[in-house]
Amino acid sequence: MSACIHPSILSADFVNLEAELARIGGADAVHVDVMDNHFVPNLTLGLPVVERIQAVSPVPLDAHLMIADADRWAPLYADLGLDSVTFHAEAAAAPVKLARELRARGSKAGMALRPATAVEPYLDMLSELDMLLIMTVEPGFGGQAFLDLTLPKIRRARAAVDGSGASVAIQVDGGISASTIERAAEAGADVFVAGSAVYGADDPGDAVERLRVLADR
Ligand code: DX5
Ligand code: ZN
Repeated sequence: MSACIHPSILSADFVNLEAELARIGGADAVHVDVMDNHFVPNLTLGLPVVERIQAVSPVPLDAHLMIADADRWAPLYADLGLDSVTFHAEAAAAPVKLARELRARGSKAGMALRPATAVEPYLDMLSELDMLLIMTVEPGFGGQAFLDLTLPKIRRARAAVDGSGASVAIQVDGGISASTIERAAEAGADVFVAGSAVYGADDPGDAVERLRVLADR
């Protein structure tokens, strides 16, 4: 099974997004970080910009919503026709209902966990999800160091997904680079977000392929 690499445009040049998207045409999807300065102490972009990115992107969109009141906002992102919409478990009052609503609107349903949020309370809802995002840094900023303390959670999530028979991708996000991706892959992740490791490289397209080879080793 080949690893999926999702470059994060958080590390791209925000005034040249269309050109920046064209540089990662070989990626499996583009990861779009939506932040509201409430759920995380940073602000990025919202519905109108994501709608335009969706219109010009050569690859599917994977939206990561780091926003409060996910129950209200996440369905509006699904309505844009995005491939996947990921909300944070900590920001959702009714995660099962929300995941169902995302699928009903045609998006894959993703749910994210901050580094200190345990996966165990959510194991009974795995079949409601297409993707489980295990944050490997505290959400909010690109360029942070990978937290090795998240590796046991990735392992437990992998065991639970395999045992459940549900088809749930395990995504990792934060500090993924050529020096950390193998650890995350070995623990059981199969979808890898990389911001600075891709857009900080001279050739982002090449960086995507190098990460993929390392994850598949
Ligand atoms: C951080 C975001 C990430 C960020 C990752 O909160 O969710 O997607 O872009 O950036 P790197 O890969 O530089 O850690
Ligand atoms: Zn992200």
